[in-house]
Amino acid sequence: MNLDKEMLPKHLAIIMDGNGRWAKQQGKPRIFGHEKGAKTVREIIQEVSEIGIPYLTLYAFSTENWKRPKLEVEALMHLLSRYLKKEVAIMQENNIRLNAIGDLESLPAKVRKELYKAMEQTQNNTSTTVSLALAYGGQQELLQMTQQLAQRVQQGLLIPQQITPELIQQTLYTQNIPPVDLLIRTSGECRISNFLLWQIAYAELYFTDILWPDFSPEELRKALANYQNRERRFGKTSEQL
Ligand code: FPP
Repeated sequence: MNLDKEMLPKHLAIIMDGNGRWAKQQGKPRIFGHEKGAKTVREIIQEVSEIGIPYLTLYAFSTENWKRPKLEVEALMHLLSRYLKKEVAIMQENNIRLNAIGDLESLPAKVRKELYKAMEQTQNNTSTTVSLALAYGGQQELLQMTQQLAQRVQQGLLIPQQITPELIQQTLYTQNIPPVDLLIRTSGECRISNFLLWQIAYAELYFTDILWPDFSPEELRKALANYQNRERRFGKTSEQL
């Protein structure tokens, strides 16, 4: 599939959904789906960096996911720390920078340790910045931003009129990352599920029935081709563009 390099999204975000259903279809436990899902993560990260998209954000674990059965949460955390340990080498090879957004302090110490190590080792890489959203919730992000700004006002460091969209952006987890251009969700669900609420204001949305473990580089290219056929008006008329 031919993609126009000039019209690629700068920031692609993905809600990776359907691991559980994929495993069920195979008559296997849910964690089997997460393991296959982690392989898809690896393939998609490589493809995104080869295509030349500078920012990729993946919804790996939401604040709501803590409510899943204890065994599944533990297995996911274990998978994550194994993945991080193994993945650094591949990221280094491909000049990929790892970042993380969310309430990282709530993660188990072992995951946090691997995460910070991987982030530090890849911090000078320049092809694609991959942000893993972990213990992430969009409302929680907006709440912590509001509290931080309110505190600065209370301390006399800021007046309310100085609160601009740019300052809000700078106070979110995604500080130096541009807004989302394209948001993909797999598995047929058409919801945002508390993901990047501020950052998706003008994003194009793309929903596919494919379950995350089956989401392939070809499917990614299909989504990008679809994106390139859309007219992004940002509130203007076609004639003004
Ligand atoms: C959604 O499937 C997926 C998740 C809640 C977690 C995403 C995790 C991975 C893709 C694997 C590990 C991640 C990394 C970065 C290595 P679901 O369980 O909600 O599926 P269902 O809706 O079919 O039940």
